[in-house]
Amino acid sequence: MKQVTRMLASLAVVALMLGAGPATAQAPQPAEARKPPPDLVLRGDAKCTRCHNEEDDPRLLSIGKTRHGVNADRRTPTCTTCHGESENHINKPAGAKERPKPDRIFARNNETTPAEAQNGACLICHRGGSRVHWQGSGHSRSQLACASCHSVHAARDQVLVKATQAGVCFTCHQDKRADIFRFSTHPLRTGWMTCSSCHAPHGSATEPNLIRNTVNETCYTCHADKRGPFLWEHPPVRENCAECHNPHGANNPAMLKVRGPFLCQQCHIATQHPSTLYSGSNLPPNLAADKMLGQQCANCHSKVHGSNHPSGARFTR
Ligand code: HEC
Ligand code: HEC
Ligand code: HEC
Ligand code: HEC
Ligand code: HEC
Ligand code: HEC
Ligand code: HEC
Ligand code: HEC
Ligand code: HEC
Ligand code: HEC
Repeated sequence: MKQVTRMLASLAVVALMLGAGPATAQAPQPAEARKPPPDLVLRGDAKCTRCHNEEDDPRLLSIGKTRHGVNADRRTPTCTTCHGESENHINKPAGAKERPKPDRIFARNNETTPAEAQNGACLICHRGGSRVHWQGSGHSRSQLACASCHSVHAARDQVLVKATQAGVCFTCHQDKRADIFRFSTHPLRTGWMTCSSCHAPHGSATEPNLIRNTVNETCYTCHADKRGPFLWEHPPVRENCAECHNPHGANNPAMLKVRGPFLCQQCHIATQHPSTLYSGSNLPPNLAADKMLGQQCANCHSKVHGSNHPSGARFTR
């Protein structure tokens, strides 16, 4: 705050000069001498920016370049809309040893202002839209603040940019970072997709906060070919794609949770069809040996998501 003190001092100098200037031939007008400093980026921000100016921290003023800085929009907040009137902070009470904190401090740790009070200040304007499920969502129950993900002073809020969003999520969900570096994964590293391609970060009607009502409906938004209906349906596919796939990534091809025959054998172990490893004697007749490669059931049952072929009951065509 050295700069602040310096700035206040220079303001005093300016005021003195104004008072003594030739334009004020009459007696100096005290009101003019105390002419308030100008707003810097937001309507009415001078209250705060007379101290928190460019010199104090240029990053703070970047808020003027965001959607919160559109002064022509009457819904645009100013410093005090979010941080509170903060009278004692602005005018340090005589005798106070330290400058009291502003009414609301937004931070990932909720030490000074509880998450609910921080979020309440944002929800005044943002209660609608995708926040309708905020109350009761896992993130809200865990006392996350809006500022746990959003950086409203930054010119570009990382969590709103596809290519950088996952990085914000990884600060807490570290296991998911490991997932997206596995052998097979969605194009998350390239930023072509991101977490919010499937998840509603503010909460939704679905656990775990998916953008649609079920896992499958979420997948169909891009993988429409898997929606069916099929003449021959495979029950686990209709039920939940995540029975077999880990949508965040896996070390098996096609993001399969479990490799090769073991995936299928979780359910099909007891069928009369050879689900044991193949040897010469238990080969079904007329089957080429290359179909046995890696004991992949899907080599033959290639229509594992369902089939529309009249004789596709076994998902082989
Ligand atoms: C008279 C100078 C002055 C004015 C006016 C002023 N502040 Fe401050 N503010 C300070 C000082 C000094 C600090 C503590 C040093 C620092 O962090 O820069 C501070 C710190 C803060 C902090 C960080 C608090 C923390 O502990 O993390 C916030 C937020 C803040 N001010 C917001 C505001 C807002 C909003 C306004 C207008 C309503 C405002 N300030 C007006 C001087 C001022
Ligand atoms: C006084 C009303 C008001 C308050 C309070 C407010 N906002 Fe906003 N916010 C707006 C307006 C207006 C927009 C622009 C929306 C638009 O154009 O549709 C906006 C936009 C946003 C956006 C989208 C930015 C973008 O680039 O698309 C985010 C994120 C956001 N606000 C978060 C917050 C957070 C977090 C808080 C609390 C710390 C907050 N807002 C407090 C009015 C407010
Ligand atoms: C500050 C830490 C933090 C950040 C940042 C964070 N999360 Fe979370 N997230 C949590 C916690 C804690 C839970 C556990 C909630 C529970 O168990 O009820 C959670 C739960 C979840 C869940 C499970 C759904 C639920 O309601 O339990 C999903 C999905 C999720 N987060 C996605 C995301 C995404 C996507 C992002 C980035 C946009 C993100 N998270 C950023 C802390 C965080
Ligand atoms: C877990 C991280 C996380 C938390 C916590 C979070 N957001 Fe968001 N928010 C996001 C992400 C990610 C997006 C972008 C969503 C998208 O692209 O679909 C977003 C988008 C937004 C937007 C702009 C788009 C829209 O839906 O209007 C606003 C406004 C917003 N958030 C406000 C808030 C408010 C207010 C809070 C606190 C109550 C909050 N957010 C808490 C991650 C979060
Ligand atoms: C839309 C709500 C909103 C508005 C408007 C707003 N702030 Fe903030 N402020 C926040 C949030 C949220 C944070 C936490 C850091 C972040 O998100 O970038 C914060 C952080 C701060 C900090 C602490 C920065 C640090 O690095 O510790 C200061 C100081 C501050 N704001 C001052 C101001 C001043 C001055 C204005 C007016 C020009 C202002 N704020 C306008 C929401 C707001
Ligand atoms: C392709 C869609 C998709 C994408 C992209 C995605 N998820 Fe998920 N996520 C899911 C589904 C589906 C589940 C539920 C899995 C289940 O039921 O086994 C889930 C579950 C979760 C859970 C809660 C259960 C758990 O596994 O811990 C968290 C947390 C989570 N995802 C975080 C993230 C984060 C962070 C990102 C971004 C790096 C992300 N997800 C990207 C679809 C996705
Ligand atoms: C936002 C669009 C989108 C959503 C939603 C989505 N995917 Fe994908 N999926 C993709 C893209 C893009 C690819 C990569 C295609 C490519 O590389 O050719 C892909 C690839 C895959 C692959 C093949 C990976 C490989 O290595 O061959 C599987 C399996 C998959 N997705 C499953 C799912 C599941 C399960 C869900 C739902 C939980 C889902 N996807 C939701 C876009 C999406
Ligand atoms: C019973 C296990 C199982 C279920 C359930 C399942 N899949 Fe698959 N999926 C597989 C197998 C096995 C492969 C690899 C097929 C191959 O190698 O030919 C695969 C491959 C894929 C591929 C990449 C190849 C292709 O066909 O495009 C996508 C995309 C895919 N699955 C999406 C989905 C979606 C979406 C769902 C939910 C509607 C789903 N899967 C449910 C087993 C399953
Ligand atoms: C989560 C359990 C589950 C998994 C995993 C699973 N299936 Fe199935 N599968 C079923 C159920 C349930 C049926 C319906 C059985 C019935 O109708 O008698 C079925 C039916 C079939 C059928 C048709 C059987 C018939 O009698 O018509 C074939 C073929 C099949 N599955 C192959 C596979 C293959 C190949 C895999 C691995 C890629 C696999 N399944 C993984 C549960 C599963
Ligand atoms: C070499 C090709 C091939 C491989 C590999 C293969 N199957 Fe089959 N499977 C078939 C054929 C062909 C049928 C149809 C037999 C019939 O109609 O009598 C069949 C039938 C089935 C059936 C229907 C019930 C039955 O026993 O007739 C199930 C379930 C099944 N297979 C599961 C599996 C599983 C699980 C694996 C992997 C462990 C697997 N299959 C590997 C060719 C194969």
